[in-house]
Amino acid sequence: MDNKILKRAIDRVLTRIDATLDQPGQGFPHYADQTTGEWTRSPAGDWTGGFWVGMLWLAAWHTKEPRYHDQARIWAERLGPRASSQSAFKGFLFWYGTELGAELLNDETARNLSLAGTRGLLDMYNPQAQLIPLGKEAEEASDVGSNEANIDALPGPVPLLIKHAAALDSLEIARNHLRQHIALCVRDDGSVCQSASFDPQTGALLRRYTHKGIHGESTWTRAQAWAMVSLAQALNRGEMEFRDVAIQVADWWLEHQPKDHVAYWDFDDPAIPDTSRDTSGAAIAAAALLKLAVCLPERRERYRQSAEAIVEALVLRYQTPVDASDSRPVGILTHGCFNRKLGVAMENELIWGDYFLFEALLVLDGRLASERV
Ligand code: GLY
Repeated sequence: MDNKILKRAIDRVLTRIDATLDQPGQGFPHYADQTTGEWTRSPAGDWTGGFWVGMLWLAAWHTKEPRYHDQARIWAERLGPRASSQSAFKGFLFWYGTELGAELLNDETARNLSLAGTRGLLDMYNPQAQLIPLGKEAEEASDVGSNEANIDALPGPVPLLIKHAAALDSLEIARNHLRQHIALCVRDDGSVCQSASFDPQTGALLRRYTHKGIHGESTWTRAQAWAMVSLAQALNRGEMEFRDVAIQVADWWLEHQPKDHVAYWDFDDPAIPDTSRDTSGAAIAAAALLKLAVCLPERRERYRQSAEAIVEALVLRYQTPVDASDSRPVGILTHGCFNRKLGVAMENELIWGDYFLFEALLVLDGRLASERV
């Protein structure tokens, strides 16, 4: 990827972070109008607040500017009460929102919060079913509780439980959580279903379904992307038991993504190409491919080049300004699709799309080791 384009894209992300810091409003940025840049916020961080804090940690690490570090710590502390929330999605909050500060900046406040969040995840573990269930406070509007699993409950819990294994004796729980979600959600062909009900006594699969995809047999884009990134996080931490399924899931993405590298919201929407893209799913996939590239020598070139192609397509076609006549605020990653089923934020900037684009850009820039984040 051209170095000038890369540097310019990073500068644009930083400009957007500054504009978000300056924007009035309380709560964590969740999704924004892609024309005005105005954020819709979540008061307590929902499942997404950690991505905003993660962007601040990345900005602090990249620029070395104390103001980003100060802001990151302030926002991370606001996540503290969520350590006890009954939602597996708190893994997102405490990996991206707190552990990144410990890992990249050796921040003690962040480390303590990260440990508290990981303990909170362990409290939710079901030893019979051998996984952390979705939980009754999880974001999804229906089918949440102690007998439901979501593939999006992997990134966050998996690296947190591995990272804190020595302190919290959580390595086997991380492995079991991952093994069970693979059994419940990954299909034989390497495509991924978002959600499953399981028998709470045995963990056996009862049914597969989706909260956000077009239908239960379809492949919702972020289901595939979340599986890719969590498997990559496990491999990056030496869990090579998951190598084959990680390759299968990543190769499925590459074989099914559009020729122009930016996925639509669901791979099986019959309206493609006249339907929504999901730039956030593409950004997650790019970050995952960069992680996989470092620990799979036989796939290194293919995954690295594919990630670069996705990132380049995102910054040239979807990051504002996209051309000289574009007067929108700078640095918005447009065309994320949050929830097409409910008609919410279908062509918007999404805070997690911003985060994964920023992470991938910093990895491509060459200083950030993808296996640290
Ligand atoms: N719940 C995670 C997602 O919507 O991607």
